[in-house]
Amino acid sequence: MTAPEQIQLENIADSDYEIFALLKQRYSPRIFKDRKVTEQHLHQLFEAVRWAPSSNNLQPWRFLYAEKGSEAYEKIVDNLTESNKTWAKNAPLLMLTAFHKKTDQGKENFHALHDLGLGLGGMTVQAQYMGIAMHHMAGLDHKKAQQVFNIPEEFHIVSAVAIGYYGGELDDLPQKLQKKEIRERRRMPQNEFAFKNRWGTD
Ligand SMILES: Cc1cc2nc3c(=O)[nH]c(=O)nc-3n(C[C@H](O)[C@H](O)[C@H](O)COP(=O)(O)O)c2cc1C
Repeated sequence: MTAPEQIQLENIADSDYEIFALLKQRYSPRIFKDRKVTEQHLHQLFEAVRWAPSSNNLQPWRFLYAEKGSEAYEKIVDNLTESNKTWAKNAPLLMLTAFHKKTDQGKENFHALHDLGLGLGGMTVQAQYMGIAMHHMAGLDHKKAQQVFNIPEEFHIVSAVAIGYYGGELDDLPQKLQKKEIRERRRMPQNEFAFKNRWGTD
């Protein structure tokens, strides 16, 4: 077994109850295989979003993606926080996510952020099915990104995502991040967020 495969195995969720294998295997890596995401796989990722549910079927999600080596890729890197910059440049693809703020009647779409998240959730599982990892990032200067890419005001940029096939070497990261890549994954227990009949934990 190769070192990257070993890392993937160790990151499988130690779930309390049995869940779909793709959900157990998904995690947010900071290293990626040095391979372009194929066009076919990219279309499959966006197709997964396309068929996600959305409030009134408004499909408010929008994406701007760029491949490593392009000017647009460097522009996305430039908008990331310093800590995200250190690892996100390992990804062959970077993407900005955004939503359309208004309904067709020009009113505020209060569920647009929800629907973007739902679309990204489906995309993340579809990616996992194809051996592709998606590491979501809130750490970016969304105002600057909006300006740099001339994104109209009616859209709100939410996040950046580093996308690539699982793989890569721990040496691709500085020491501090190498530890994070293989540290134990933790979650709060179900009784802290799923309440029956009344709000709160006993
Ligand atoms: C909306 C969102 C924003 C995130 N922002 C960042 C970020 O800026 N930098 C980072 O390294 N990870 C970021 N993450 C990744 C989370 O830290 C990660 O999902 C969480 O620690 C759980 O780890 P796992 O995805 O490996 O299970 C973000 C995840 C989400 C969903």
